[in-house]
Amino acid sequence: MNDSTAMPRGEPAIRTIAMPADANPAGDIFGGWLMAQMDLAAGNVATRRARSRCATVSVDRITFLRPVFIGDEVSLHAEIVRVGRSSMTIEVEAWRRSRDGEEQVKVTDASFVFVALDQGGRPRVISPGSQSAANT
Ligand SMILES: CC(C)(COP(=O)(O)OP(=O)(O)OC[C@H]1O[C@@H](n2cnc3c(N)ncnc32)[C@H](O)[C@@H]1OP(=O)(O)O)[C@@H](O)C(=O)NCCC(=O)NCCS
Repeated sequence: MNDSTAMPRGEPAIRTIAMPADANPAGDIFGGWLMAQMDLAAGNVATRRARSRCATVSVDRITFLRPVFIGDEVSLHAEIVRVGRSSMTIEVEAWRRSRDGEEQVKVTDASFVFVALDQGGRPRVISPGSQSAANT
C-alpha cells in the first residue's frame, strides 16, 4: 500500500506540525484536520495558477493510508493535473515524518476540483498559463 522509496507527487505547498489540539481522543490526528490542510494546499496551488480567488467544488476518493501522530511534520504536495474552462483538478498528497526521523511516509491522497471565481463569486475563465502542470 505504501512504497517507502516513493517520492511525493507535486510541488510542496504546505509544511506544518501536527499539534495536540489536532488529535482525536485516541491520540491520533483527526482526518478532518488533514483534509483541511489538503484543501489549503490545493487552494494555494489553484489560486496561484488561476491568479484569482478559487473555491473547492468537489473532493474525490480521499484515502487515508497511514495514521498521523502528534508532533509529526506533515508535508502537503499538490499538482494540477487538469485545467478546464474555469475548473482545475488537483492531486494532493500528505506525507508524514517523525520529528526525530528521516523517513517520509505518504499518509493520505485525494483529488480536489477548484473553480476560479470572479469578484462576484461566479466562475471565471482560467487564462492559459506557463506552468507545465497547468497546461494539461
Ligand atoms: C463553485 C461554484 C461557483 C460553481 O458554480 P456552478 O453553478 O456549479 O458553476 P458551473 O456549472 O459553471 O461550473 C463551473 C465549473 O465547475 C465544474 N463543476 C461544478 N460542479 C462540479 C462538481 N461537483 N465536481 C467537479 N466539477 C464541478 C464544472 O464542470 C465547471 O468546470 P469548467 O468551467 O472547467 O468546465 C458554486 O458551486 C459554489 O459557489 N460552490 C460553493 C463553493 C464553496 O463554498 N466551497 C467551499 C466549501 S467548504
